[in-house]
Amino acid sequence: MKKTRHFLSLADYSKDDILNLLRRASAMKRGEPGKGPARPLEGKSVGLLFDKPSTRTRVSFDVGVYQLGGHPIFLHSRDIQLYRGEPIKDTARVLSRYLDAIVIRTFGQEIVEEFAKWSTIPVINALTDLSHPCQILGDLLTLQEAGLDICTMKAAWIGDGNNVANSWINAAKKLGFKFVLACPEGYDPAVPIDCDNVKLTRDPIEAARDANAISTDVWASMGQEKESAVRQRAFQGFQLNREILNYAGNPVFVLHCLPAHRGEEITDDLLESEHSLIWDEAENRLHVQKALLENLLSR
Ligand code: CP
Ligand code: NVA
Repeated sequence: MKKTRHFLSLADYSKDDILNLLRRASAMKRGEPGKGPARPLEGKSVGLLFDKPSTRTRVSFDVGVYQLGGHPIFLHSRDIQLYRGEPIKDTARVLSRYLDAIVIRTFGQEIVEEFAKWSTIPVINALTDLSHPCQILGDLLTLQEAGLDICTMKAAWIGDGNNVANSWINAAKKLGFKFVLACPEGYDPAVPIDCDNVKLTRDPIEAARDANAISTDVWASMGQEKESAVRQRAFQGFQLNREILNYAGNPVFVLHCLPAHRGEEITDDLLESEHSLIWDEAENRLHVQKALLENLLSR
């Protein structure tokens, strides 16, 4: 029996896997047919199991499954027996009997890993506290479309070393682009920085210097709301703004996974500026996830 492939982390995907997914996403966006059926999810059902709020991820997966000919089933975790204590391993085995794939947004990465361990259908990580790999596929496609070579660019991260930053690091390790993160002390990424092309600094200007892409994200992620006040203080000086952009390369593109807190991690002016790719970035979630679903469900 063929081993089920999941999408839990970019660390599990090779450079070629990532580039092929982006190529297919770009072709799908242009309406070009693939090698397989036009509606690869025809007759298939995909569960969307969410434990946290979502606008982009939830809607783009729902619409993506529909556009590929499949049937999306949204499940909030509090509405299923998991919430009442049914074990993940039981839920995974039962849902594997009905569904063809499952997309999960939750807290610990170990939850999606445990699910995948027992699941006989592909499990897609739609964000955990540790990582957000679908987001980075969308970000990379957006930068490619803007004309950057995503294997040789210099990219930067300013702010919290959070789930999105961790997935950026995983992408940099695989693709080899230069990636410099500026995070305040105590808010470093969880993914080890053990390669020459990734660097961590405390200085946002150093990170931004000559960068062609700069990303940031909220200072308090979902589940960290109680720490907001402490984090507000810790992140002073780590705002992405025009002043920081003065040190960047030319061109320089600004990304933000959204939702954004204007005036905190990024200025409204910059989000709305000619440097910002945020709307393409949000749209591209749809295209990369369709390519991912097609890939995982056509094997
Ligand atoms: N960027 C992102 O994942 O957005 P949502 O939380 O709205 O899904
Ligand atoms: N770091 C943010 C990303 C939201 C898409 C969070 O986890 O809340």
